[in-house]
Amino acid sequence: MKIAITGKGGVGKTTLAALLAQAYAEAGRAVLAVDADPAPCLADALGIPPALRSGLTPIAEMGELIEERTGAKPGTVGGFFTLNPRVDDIPEEFSIMHRGVRLLEMGAVKTGSSGCICPESALLKALFTHLLFRQDDVLILDMYAGVEHLGRATADFVDAMLVVAEPTRRSLGTAAQIRTLAEDIGLNRLWLVGNKVSSVEQAAFLEAESPGIPLLGWLPEDGGVLTADLAAEPVYDHVPVLREGALRLAAALDRITVEQPT
Ligand SMILES: Nc1ncnc2c1ncn2[C@@H]1O[C@H](COP(=O)(O)OP(=O)(O)OP(=O)(O)O)[C@@H](O)[C@H]1O
Ligand SMILES: [Mg+2]
Repeated sequence: MKIAITGKGGVGKTTLAALLAQAYAEAGRAVLAVDADPAPCLADALGIPPALRSGLTPIAEMGELIEERTGAKPGTVGGFFTLNPRVDDIPEEFSIMHRGVRLLEMGAVKTGSSGCICPESALLKALFTHLLFRQDDVLILDMYAGVEHLGRATADFVDAMLVVAEPTRRSLGTAAQIRTLAEDIGLNRLWLVGNKVSSVEQAAFLEAESPGIPLLGWLPEDGGVLTADLAAEPVYDHVPVLREGALRLAAALDRITVEQPT
């Protein structure tokens, strides 16, 4: 199962990515979590110790690897390079593993607005489309805020794109933009996930005002998220109500991706 997590800035994409990754890992599934934010935070959300984290280099910064696999120097636009570079060994070799979650950081990848393809993005696209996953394996992509990344090259392969929204019109406005852009690339496997929801009324608001994206479920607003951060502990360990919410969402995702195989 391949999932991308999108939404407006600060709605809780990284928090959700870490929660889902941990939930699936605990259930014994092989989990590859990918931090696609040029300012990565997923390692912290997963509670990865700094010493382990320091051994991780973002893929986009691995100039030699990119050149070796694509035949072109990073930063090159145009020219000739391999569009289907070999990627099968990348997750194992260039990631770190913590509590059953394998983490990979993409780094700052240049993707031109008009669908330009550069060697870095060719490598990443190959990585996500051609990697063979067993049915049970889980890929979770923590995307950066907003909508620009919804170019053809980045997320059209997913089984489900989760659009995180707080119960506010502004975050639903971003969800609507994401839906339009996703439709443009033929992606309609979108699900809304509410976060920072303080009441059933707010959950009902999200469902009623959703821009046509079905609500998969929601996570409550909880002060424990802040104390988890202060204690440098993963929310999954620190906040039982969010752990339970994550387990429900993980089960719901399993159901919809089985019902709608790609
Ligand atoms: N359910 C929640 N209850 C309370 N606070 C939350 C909850 N979920 C997330 N937060 C807080 O909201 C802030 C943003 O969360 P997070 O970093 O996960 O969002 P994001 O969408 O990944 O942000 P960015 O767009 O910067 O990548 C953080 O301070 C986080 O602790
Ligand atoms: Mg984030």
